[in-house]
Amino acid sequence: MKASSFSLESAVITKQQREQVSRAVGILNAGGVVAFPTETVYGLGADATNIKAVSDIYRIKQRPMNHPLIVHIADFSYLHEWAQAIPDSALKLATQFWPGPLTLILKRNRRVSDVVTGGQDTVGVRVPSHPIALALLRSLGQGKALAAPSANRFGRISPTTAAHVQKELGAEVNMILDGGSCTVGLESTIVSFVGDNPKVLRPGGITLAELESVFGASISMMHRTDSSTTRVPGSLPSHYAPTTPLKLCATEQLWQYAQKLTSQQLKTMVITWSTIQRPLQQNEYLQHCSMPNDPESYGRELYAILHQLDQVGFDYLLVEMVPDHSSWLAIEDRLQRASHHTI
Ligand code: TXA
Ligand code: MG
Repeated sequence: MKASSFSLESAVITKQQREQVSRAVGILNAGGVVAFPTETVYGLGADATNIKAVSDIYRIKQRPMNHPLIVHIADFSYLHEWAQAIPDSALKLATQFWPGPLTLILKRNRRVSDVVTGGQDTVGVRVPSHPIALALLRSLGQGKALAAPSANRFGRISPTTAAHVQKELGAEVNMILDGGSCTVGLESTIVSFVGDNPKVLRPGGITLAELESVFGASISMMHRTDSSTTRVPGSLPSHYAPTTPLKLCATEQLWQYAQKLTSQQLKTMVITWSTIQRPLQQNEYLQHCSMPNDPESYGRELYAILHQLDQVGFDYLLVEMVPDHSSWLAIEDRLQRASHHTI
């Protein structure tokens, strides 16, 4: 994925969208909570300098207070207002990938509230590229930014449309800004610069190869089992889960497994990306959905498909494992977590 593909900041927003943004700014400056589109997923935003408003985000999301939020800023030049002791390598990444789906974890500037950082000494910061998010951030008052997690309940699938937010949190937010479907569809890549070497805490919209091309060296990934020692909810094994049990299955065993489930009269949706032959006919227990075979399109559609299928009442979502290649890493990560509760 090229950074340029999300450099939408020059995109023009319509007059109606501008009016919506103005209304959102009024609500945010008065301490309200507004859901807004980003290129990755929709965020649940509050003025990062307003402790009460930020606390409301935790309440609405039903998220534990010690899990930190990302601070969304309008421009790279504001980074120093939120973070300090910023290493050159972090600046390099920010220059290359902002605005875009990259979050940097840095030592926090002292003015950043404990409510935002979950009491940690670090802060997550990013500049989103969605034109509505940027218009919103640029219109907030001087020195302000938006603290925002994904606009879903803790542990559930992130929203990639305004309708997803409306369905899950509509009754509790003051406003939802509609910016269409998110173009990346998976959350930002999180890189931590705390400690000796930079580390990827969450794979996302920027691939490892893209990060490494800027670093000129390889970068390590936090292992999934390290997560018990961190407070990164996106790294809890059971995150991003649909309510329907989801099982990942290797291509070779996929249809055999589908046969086994349907023979037990379990209503099963098989989700594939490859063009393997489908030996079984669709019937009242078996349905098949074909996903794109390139990671960018697959990532863009994944959450919307999971949201949709979760409404249907399947007993199982049986998902074909995705290719073992770094360009699929973020998708593989989300599918593994979504499948965590499934026996
Ligand atoms: O793409 C995204 O990153 C979206 C959009 C809305 O920007 N946001 C998002 O936020 O995914 P959330 O809260 O759902 O996930 C952010 C992750 C969490 O796992 C959080 O713990 C981690 O970032 N995080 C935030 N601040 C951190 C910090 N200081 N140290 C370690 N992890 C941090
Ligand atoms: Mg989230």
